[in-house]
Amino acid sequence: MTPYVADPVYLNGRFLPLAEAGVSPLDRGFLYGDGVYEVIPVYSRQPFRIDEHLKRLQATLHGIRLANPLAIEDWKAVVLRLIAEAPWDDQSVYLQVTRGADNKRDHAFPPASVPPTVFAFSSPLVTTSAEVRAKGVSAITVPDLRWSRCDLKVVSLLANVLARQQAVEHGCAEALLIRDGFMKEGAASNIFIVKDGVLVAPPKTHLMLPGITYDVILELAATHALPLVVREIAEAELRTADEVWMTSSTKEVLAITTLDGQPVGTGQPGPVGERMWQWYQDFKNTVMRKG
Ligand code: PDD
Repeated sequence: MTPYVADPVYLNGRFLPLAEAGVSPLDRGFLYGDGVYEVIPVYSRQPFRIDEHLKRLQATLHGIRLANPLAIEDWKAVVLRLIAEAPWDDQSVYLQVTRGADNKRDHAFPPASVPPTVFAFSSPLVTTSAEVRAKGVSAITVPDLRWSRCDLKVVSLLANVLARQQAVEHGCAEALLIRDGFMKEGAASNIFIVKDGVLVAPPKTHLMLPGITYDVILELAATHALPLVVREIAEAELRTADEVWMTSSTKEVLAITTLDGQPVGTGQPGPVGERMWQWYQDFKNTVMRKG
């Protein structure tokens, strides 16, 4: 059976088998969810937009007042070694930094002498099958119960976990988060709508994760002169959109064709989303797979 996690993994300066990698139960990631993470897709053994992912990691670390334990070049060396030693060409590299393990439990930061815990591993990139893509996926809406720093990619993901689980229990792929009457994003994806040929993207605020894929979509819209508006999306607009898409490093661009049991638009993936998916593939293949 294909393992989900490649050996070796990286933990605190060492490359070692997953089975030998251990952290203290007093780690603040475990006790408090006090840590940050990144997920970087890898195509043909090349990390996609690694500089942007490492920049967002830096921004999140700054946001939680944790010093970056590695220089950018050291992060790149870790990522490249994990990629080189994993058995797959297309991968998903996970990075995590927590505020480390003190010898006691105390909400306030540990002394500076406590080192952060740095963990990274590679998994196979799980892509959406052509059959699923052809039909699109279903989603539900749920209240956005997260804190107010959703721009930080932190491992405290309980509200996202509960939302995504609710989706799964409804036979759906994603939960769309509604706060104060506006749709912010998905439990683990950014959300776009199309209305009358215009792509609408919610703005980057502290209530949405600034997706790396989101940026690629905005760039591709500009390159191909697709009409684009960046503004808040009211819940009512979401329900009357012609198309709704979810985007993320692992889902790329995926049509949501059923929302809360109702068809989105025609109930089939729409033409604008199809075009964007193709542009995304072309871009990816040009940038990543030129061999
Ligand atoms: N999730 N919004 C949220 C809440 C997310 O968790 C993610 C990604 C995104 C999309 O960001 P990006 O395009 O940079 O992948 C938006 C990752 C994949 C995860 O948690 O596994």
